[in-house]
Amino acid sequence: MSASLFLFLLLPLTLSFLPPPTSDSFSRTNLFPKDQDTSFPDTYTLTNVTKPTGIQFSTSLSFISAYITGINPTSKYLNNVALNHTLIKIDNEIVDNKPFDMIIESLNSDYTSLTLSSLPLSNEIINVTLTVKDVKDENYVRKISVLPGTSIRDTLLENGISPYRSLTKLTNCKGKQLCGTCIVDVDDQSGLSRKSIDESGTLRGRESMRLSCVTCVWGDTVVYLNGDVRRDQWTR
Ligand code: FES
Repeated sequence: MSASLFLFLLLPLTLSFLPPPTSDSFSRTNLFPKDQDTSFPDTYTLTNVTKPTGIQFSTSLSFISAYITGINPTSKYLNNVALNHTLIKIDNEIVDNKPFDMIIESLNSDYTSLTLSSLPLSNEIINVTLTVKDVKDENYVRKISVLPGTSIRDTLLENGISPYRSLTKLTNCKGKQLCGTCIVDVDDQSGLSRKSIDESGTLRGRESMRLSCVTCVWGDTVVYLNGDVRRDQWTR
């Protein structure tokens, strides 16, 4: 492969993982009408949006926001948006500080308005709280501060807490999603990564069950240890 072809292929990938610029390197602009009713600074809203927008979004290494990394020269919004502006809302749903895969899913669905900020807002990663309770001990509560996107199993083990119920403490698959024994229960899963078809297939149990090794925490969440499981999930 020639050097120029290699660079051509590498550049978009590199751009996708570039962090947003700091406010020092970003010049604010007054070109955009500011929203009055918002808790985010320097925002503006595109209304009656039609697709294709010609606006390309990527994420930073935090994977919890989207910002503009490309505008097609033929885009009807070429004069309304600018590179590096952060996506705040899709219609009325706030998407800043949300998992990037959810943001992309929303961008691929129907919407009529996009709210952006001319400031790069998500440079700082804000920890979330994982609260651990035990269905067999109502007095047991541990609160652990974690980076968004951290695996529940890793968090538990690093804090001396086991999601396992038996000898599987020693014989588990070490987070490879093979043994199906690292089960925790979570009633409100809105702060978690989505359950995949594979994970559902392995669990074959209550909706609240999650495999802690493949489930990541994106927002404050309460998990329960020691919920009932099938016999093979106890011993395998
Ligand atoms: S540790 Fe084996 S499936 Fe999670």
